[in-house]
Amino acid sequence: MVKSRIISVFFIFLFSFSPVYGNFEYLQLVLTWPASFCFRPKNICKRPAKNFTIHGLWPEITGFRLEFCTGSPKYETFKDNNIVDYLERHWVQMKFDENYAKYHQPLWSYEYRKHGMCCSKIYNQKAYFLLATRLKEKFDLLTTLRTHGITPGTKHTFGDIQKAIKTVTNQVDPDLKCVEHIKGVQELNEIGICFNPAADNFYPCHHSYTCDETDSKMILFR
Ligand SMILES: *[C@@H]1O[C@H](CO)[C@@H](O)[C@H](O)[C@H]1NC(C)=O
Repeated sequence: MVKSRIISVFFIFLFSFSPVYGNFEYLQLVLTWPASFCFRPKNICKRPAKNFTIHGLWPEITGFRLEFCTGSPKYETFKDNNIVDYLERHWVQMKFDENYAKYHQPLWSYEYRKHGMCCSKIYNQKAYFLLATRLKEKFDLLTTLRTHGITPGTKHTFGDIQKAIKTVTNQVDPDLKCVEHIKGVQELNEIGICFNPAADNFYPCHHSYTCDETDSKMILFR
C-alpha cells in the first residue's frame, strides 16, 4: 500500500516535471497532394512534384496546434549534401528552384520555426527532419488510393477516401484536408496522419472538418 503510494507519487512527479512528453499530445505528419497545392493560383510551383510530399510535422494537443515555440536553438541550415538531397526528395520545396531551395531551405526553416521548435525537447533539428521523412517513407498513399479506385481526376466521398487511408493507419483516423479552388468543388489537398510523441504508434487525428464528411458530397482527387 505504502509502496504503491510512493510509486504513484513518483510517477506524478515524473509526469509533472517531464519536459519530454508533457507539452504535446501527438504529432501530425501532413502530406500535400501537389496537383491540388500547385493548382492554387498564388502557389506558383517551380517544381511541382508528382507524388505526395511533406508539408510538415506538427506537434499538437487535440484541437490545438503548438506554434512558434521559443527557447530552443534556431534553425540551422543543413550543409550536408546527403541530407539536403534526401530531404529534397521527400520534403520538396516546390515553390523554389532546386539550387535556391537547397541553399536557402525556405520551407524547411519556416516549418521548423513554426512547428519543429515545439517538439525540440525530444527531437533536435536533425532528428525532427529525419523523423518526418522516415514516417513519410512508410506510406505510399498514391498506391493505397489507387488500389481503392481513387486515381487522379476522379471524385469520391469523404468516407471512401478515409476508408482507403485507414487501411494503412491500422484503422486509426487520419485528417483529410480539403480546399475549394473552384467554387462548389471540394478537392483533397492534404492528408494528415498522426502519431504518439515517440512516433511508434498511430494516434487519432483531430478532424479539421475542411472536407464535407457527408455521403452526398463528392470530393475531387485532382
Ligand atoms: C511515391 O512515394 C512513395 C513513398 O512515400 C513511394 O513508395 C512510391 O514509389 C512513390 N510513387 C511514385 C509513382 O513515385
